[in-house]
Amino acid sequence: MADDAAKQCGTKQVDPKAKQPIQGIKNIVAVASGKGGVGKSTTAVNLAVALAQQGQQVGLLDADIYGPSIPNMMGLKGRKPEVDAASKILYPLENFGVKVMSIGFLVGDEQAMIWRGPMVAGALGQLLKDVAWGELDVLIIDMPPGTGDAQLTLSQTVPVTGAVVVTTPQDIALIDCKKGIQMFDKVHVPTLGIVENMSVFICPHCQGESHIFDQGGAETLSAQFNTDIIAKVPLNMEIRKNGDAGTPIVAADPDAEVAKIYRQMAQAVTDKIGVFNKRKITIPVMAG
Ligand SMILES: Nc1ncnc2c1ncn2[C@@H]1O[C@H](COP(=O)(O)OP(=O)(O)OP(=O)(O)O)[C@@H](O)[C@H]1O
Ligand SMILES: [Mg+2]
Repeated sequence: MADDAAKQCGTKQVDPKAKQPIQGIKNIVAVASGKGGVGKSTTAVNLAVALAQQGQQVGLLDADIYGPSIPNMMGLKGRKPEVDAASKILYPLENFGVKVMSIGFLVGDEQAMIWRGPMVAGALGQLLKDVAWGELDVLIIDMPPGTGDAQLTLSQTVPVTGAVVVTTPQDIALIDCKKGIQMFDKVHVPTLGIVENMSVFICPHCQGESHIFDQGGAETLSAQFNTDIIAKVPLNMEIRKNGDAGTPIVAADPDAEVAKIYRQMAQAVTDKIGVFNKRKITIPVMAG
C-alpha cells in the first residue's frame, strides 16, 4: 500500500544520511494532511504558540509556498523580515514568542502561484537553511495540502523528527490523510500522532453536540497505522475568528476550553518527540 502511495506521488527510497540537520534546531515537526482546508495552518499556529507558552524555543515555518496563511494567522501580515546584505541570511519575524518565516513575507499573494516544482523546492530549501533561526527546541512546519513537491523536498533535505497529521472525522478526509501518512512513511518520517480537527460542534446556546463531519474516523485511522490520536479539536467559532484576526486562540483566550486542548496537544507532541528521539538513539546502527 505504501508503494502505491509512493508511485502516486513519485517518491523514491531516500538515503537518510543525505539529510543535513539545520544547526541549532533540535527537532523539526511537520503539520500535514493529504487534504486541503482541514485546519493544518490553524493547528500549526496554535501548537507553536502553545509550545512557546510552555517555555520552549519555537520556530514556525510556512511551507505553503502557493498559499501562505501564516503571516495573517500570526498577526504579521504586511511585515518584511530583515536581510543581512552580505550573507543574504533572513531574520525571522517574531510574535507570541514564536519565530516565524513565510514566503508570504517575501513575495506578493499572486506571485508564487505560477511557480513550478523546482522553484518551490528552491524556495523551501532557502526558508529552511538561509534563515537565522538561532537555537530552537522545535521548528513547526505548516505544510501545504497533498503529497507533492514541498513534502518531498522537506523530507529529503532535513531530518524531520515526525509529522502531526491533521484530519476531519469523515471518510473523504481520512482517505487523503492515509495517503499523507503513507507518503511520509515511505520517506522515513514517522507520524507522531493524529489531530482530529472539527471533531464536534458544541452549540453555544443549548450546549448540544453535533457531529457535523461525522465521528469515529480518526479511531479507525489510528488503529490502522498504530498511531495515537493526540487531540480532538472541536469546530469552534472563536478558533476561526481568532485565526482570521491574527491572534491565535491559545494567546487570545488562554482560559478557553479549546485553548486547553491545544496546550494538551503541545504536551503530547513534546512527549512524542521524546519517545521518537529515544527510539532513534537506541536503534543499533548496522556496520557497512
Ligand atoms: N477547529 C476549528 N473550528 C473552527 N474553524 C476552524 C477550525 N480549524 C480550522 N478552522 C477554520 O477553517 C478554515 C481552514 O483552516 P486552515 O486554513 O487552518 O486549513 P488548512 O488545512 O491549513 O488549509 P489549506 O489546505 O488551504 O492550507 C479557516 O478559516 C480556519 O479558521
Ligand atoms: Mg494551510
